[in-house]
Amino acid sequence: MPDKKTFYITTPIYYPSGNMTIGHTYTTVAADTLTRFKKLQGYDTYFLTGTDEHGQKIEKKAQEAGVTPIQYVDKIVAETKDLWKLMNIEYDDFIRTTEERHMKIVQKIFRQFYDQGDIYKAEYEGMYCTPCESFWTPTQLKDKDGQKVCPDCGRPCQPMKEEGYFFRMSKYQDWMIDYIESHPDFIQPASRANEMINNFLKPGLQDLCVSRTSVRWGVPVDFDTKHTVYVWIDALSNYITALGYGTDHDELFRKYWPADVHLVGKEIVRFHTIYWPIMLHALGLPLPKQVFGHGWLLFGADRMSKSKGNVVYPGPIVKRYGVDALRYYLMREMPFGSDGNYTNESFLTRVNADLANDLGNLVSRTAAMIEKYFDGVMPAWSDEGYVESEDRALREHCEQLPQLVDSQMAKLQFSQALTEIWKVVGECNKYIDLTQPWILGKDDSKKQRLANVLLNLAECVRFISVLIGPFMPNTPKRIFEQLGLEDGALKTWDSLSRFGLLPAGLRVKKGEALFPRIDIKKDLELLSADTAVPAPQTKPEEKKPAPQSDKKPPEKKAEITIDDFDRIELRLARVVACEKVKKSNKLLRFTLDLGTETRTVFSGIAKSYEEPEKLIGKSLILLSNLKPREMMGEMSQGMLLSALDEGTGKLSLLTVDRPDEIAPGSEIG
Ligand code: MSP
Repeated sequence: MPDKKTFYITTPIYYPSGNMTIGHTYTTVAADTLTRFKKLQGYDTYFLTGTDEHGQKIEKKAQEAGVTPIQYVDKIVAETKDLWKLMNIEYDDFIRTTEERHMKIVQKIFRQFYDQGDIYKAEYEGMYCTPCESFWTPTQLKDKDGQKVCPDCGRPCQPMKEEGYFFRMSKYQDWMIDYIESHPDFIQPASRANEMINNFLKPGLQDLCVSRTSVRWGVPVDFDTKHTVYVWIDALSNYITALGYGTDHDELFRKYWPADVHLVGKEIVRFHTIYWPIMLHALGLPLPKQVFGHGWLLFGADRMSKSKGNVVYPGPIVKRYGVDALRYYLMREMPFGSDGNYTNESFLTRVNADLANDLGNLVSRTAAMIEKYFDGVMPAWSDEGYVESEDRALREHCEQLPQLVDSQMAKLQFSQALTEIWKVVGECNKYIDLTQPWILGKDDSKKQRLANVLLNLAECVRFISVLIGPFMPNTPKRIFEQLGLEDGALKTWDSLSRFGLLPAGLRVKKGEALFPRIDIKKDLELLSADTAVPAPQTKPEEKKPAPQSDKKPPEKKAEITIDDFDRIELRLARVVACEKVKKSNKLLRFTLDLGTETRTVFSGIAKSYEEPEKLIGKSLILLSNLKPREMMGEMSQGMLLSALDEGTGKLSLLTVDRPDEIAPGSEIG
């Protein structure tokens, strides 16, 4: 038997500087969906993801959190893996750039570049963007309000001088232009290829600084240890180090390289389509077949970012609506390649319209009618004059569907592929209205016609279920259960080459609604309470007390019901430790005992408590079901209640009057 065709796909390795957002989830779900689709088609797939753990930013974050960099990233990596599990992501390997298997090979690659003259040592003087860890030439900098700012992130740059190793990118400029021009599929969407050529290659490719002396948290250059390897050489190499490149065990590398596709957000296309190919070429290796630069998931008109405080995390959405609903939304809402807005409203509307109504109704109506008219037993097909033109149209459309989906998936047009599937879903629902099974059911002489109608529907549902599997891995199981279909052979890609394979006699049983209908207005309130992260400028600790002179009566809030109050969880928390936060003059960091758990909470009351250690042992009131949020590089898990005297601006913490008689963790209400 010939070997299966291979398919190697990667996501960017994400910075574990904070928890992964719905944005990181977007790329990862896309990679997982494509992997599952290729697997369905019989490919031998390999799916790599991971984390990019070195660099100044992580070093700083760890310092702020009072832990070592590795302790810091270990925690985020564990949480990232949990999130991928929750999202039903089936990766084959998760590479961390702090692993020895990676670092050793990065050192080897760096040395090879140096030995063969691709890397040289020089002094660099230029404008440096600390958050992006990038040097920029004067022509690359942008002007903003009279200031020179980073072209990537828009933040101010500072002049900086540093000894460094440089990669002779300029030497490969013409080769790179030729390669891109002669391989039109290499960069997708094609518009991004033009951008690379016109904005970065044609104006002249600069040599790239590939080491730092100022960053200790990195892969040391083994022949000059005051340098560490600058993040992009370290990071990009992951795509081959994970496969064992450069080791004695490079079977995976020999089997899967070159990658079929690197999925990346549009902001890092440049690194993947210029620097990475040049590095590979210098190593004498073939280039990935494609780099796909997808668009951004925006929140409002802005890119999600922690510093802007407009981040959405997938956890609460999945908890309420299930992982398949979110996966479907992410793949359906915007064309892969374009930007799109995430809003809770568009999510809920889509789940209701496409999943609860279109798909959910089709499945439940089909199963319910087989239950009702055929006692839950799949009837047998008969050709006796029962093939009408509407049957033929539906059947032909359904037979073409795998091909239509395949051609969209080959272009990574996930949204279009789903649109094709949903056209058949819609056609099935119309077919029900057209054939009116409830009328056929009243006439015994139409029993076979009714059987054929329901079989056509059930067979379409089988096709649809197989094809949505890569997008929504849990849903097909639930549909097949309703159809009573156990035979794995009828759930394969090959089984879609013929229409009408569903056997008679299956036990059909209408199950629970696949996607319960949502009351959008009500759920919008619930979901925005779950997902919204307050923007930093609205932090309560930053509110200035109103001056005495224009003191107004306190603004009354709208009345609430006891049910509203019931959503709040208040608990008694005993202070185990309390200290000032070095980099803030407002925050105190509390360690709190809640009886069954210990929590860290930051509170903006430092100015009212000059000697925070005096709070140790006190019993305070904690709003304990407030969504945790990141502060000073750590998660703050709740809010301590305090009263504010508007005149003096002093805050006073709330407590109970008999603390010794109440155990920590006791509920307050
Ligand atoms: N560590 C580098 C990548 C190195 S790859 C060799 C990095 N990490 S990152 O954590 O910033 O992740 C960026 C990637 O996350 C984007 O390229 C994109 O794939 C994904 N996204 C993060 N936020 C996103 C959105 N809001 N929208 C879409 N994708 C986003 O860059």
